[in-house]
Amino acid sequence: MSHNQFDKKSQAWSALFSEPMSDLVKRYTASVFFDKRLWQADIAGSLAHADMLAAQKIISIEDHKSIQSGMATIRAEIEAGHFDWQLDLEDVHLNIEARLTQLVGLAGKRLHTGRSRNDQVATDVRLWLRGEIDLIGALLTDLQMALLDVAEKNVEVILPGFTHLQVAQPISFGHHMLAYVEMFSRDCERMLEVRRRTNRLPLGAAALAGTSYPLDRERVAVSLGMVDDQGQPQVCQNSLDAVSDRDFAIEFTAASALCMVHISRMSEELILWMSQNFGFIKIADRFTTGSSIMPQKKNPDVPELARGKTGRVVGHLMGLITLMKGQPLAYNKDNQEDKEPLFDTVDTLKDTLRIFAEMIGGQLNPATGVKEGGITVNLEAMERAALKGYATATDLADYLVKKGLPFRDAHETVAHAVKAAITHQVDLAELPLSVLREFNPSIEKDVYEVLSLRGSLHARDILGGTAPNQVRMQITRHRARLG
Ligand code: ARG
Repeated sequence: MSHNQFDKKSQAWSALFSEPMSDLVKRYTASVFFDKRLWQADIAGSLAHADMLAAQKIISIEDHKSIQSGMATIRAEIEAGHFDWQLDLEDVHLNIEARLTQLVGLAGKRLHTGRSRNDQVATDVRLWLRGEIDLIGALLTDLQMALLDVAEKNVEVILPGFTHLQVAQPISFGHHMLAYVEMFSRDCERMLEVRRRTNRLPLGAAALAGTSYPLDRERVAVSLGMVDDQGQPQVCQNSLDAVSDRDFAIEFTAASALCMVHISRMSEELILWMSQNFGFIKIADRFTTGSSIMPQKKNPDVPELARGKTGRVVGHLMGLITLMKGQPLAYNKDNQEDKEPLFDTVDTLKDTLRIFAEMIGGQLNPATGVKEGGITVNLEAMERAALKGYATATDLADYLVKKGLPFRDAHETVAHAVKAAITHQVDLAELPLSVLREFNPSIEKDVYEVLSLRGSLHARDILGGTAPNQVRMQITRHRARLG
């Protein structure tokens, strides 16, 4: 099959080239084997461009129709897996354009009027990424919903809250889950902001300086859905910037890296919590693997891999941002290197979010309409752990403050009480009233309510606090927000 004017790479550009490219250089410079992934965006961009060229009478109605029918054929060929992607044709853009010309002749050759691969590729990447951001937004919502379900079931379940990984104060497991809901809701906000800046049209910038054809850039923007909330077309306003900057891709990867960091923090907790020493939770067997030598093992491979893959996405961020730093205006071929890290970031993030939503919240059983197989919580183990480490010491100090002691003095008094409890190897709540009163005579019988885990939990009834009241209010707020 011959692709006429693009047939041999040495002749693709012009008669200017006197020798063909070596196979090694062809392979080195070609991107088709990864950028063919942009084919849908490439066709959509070309169709919007052709529609505008016809409306502006730059190409004829007949040529426009031929381009449309040729593109329909190409779409069908690619979908059916019959399209003959050729390394000789370097990238997705030249492959599709060459096939179009082969199918519809001169009309195909007219498509590139007023356009360059420089504004074409920038448009394709933006269109493709916009679609992926929308999918990621939906996955982030699913994950938040899964966390909310777990939170709702565990509002009254107490676990030790840690600072410095030392037992600090008792908290609600629901409250702990909601901390991640907050993180992922901000990840969602960040994605939406990146989407807004991604959704702008480079086409019309041509190679770098704009074009002498009377293109209607706003028309193209509208037909590609590159509009703001008011439906106003969003067009890149400087041709040099439009073809050369990849800040939207960098921003997206930064937002993704941060989201993966949140996943990684959660992974670290899941790994700790399911270890024998904690025994707080179990995750379904299908997210774990055994050991080839130790028959007793169930390893948390999925959270461990997510923690590992976070490094990979952070690496992509470093790669992309470094790619940009030395580039003079305008387009440079360096930019072709934006694709693989970007694609891998999208794939890694999407897979991770999907797996985590299921691992946390379970999978819907269509027969019962109930989600099954999410994380299971061992409330006794959590509560037992919360009873270690004098988690209610702050509550005793607060109790003394209410009796009139300055907080610093109360803090000191309780330190002595904790020391005594450690010496006797008992919890604060197990010290007899007479012993407690030696530290401060204002202590009365009602102190035992204050020293209990539940008393401590319910006392933190402040906006953003861990009291079950507050946790329930937050769950309601999040559910309303997520719709
Ligand atoms: N494959 C190229 C890329 O990904 C397309 C743009 C090529 N432009 C050029 N002037 N060589 O960036």
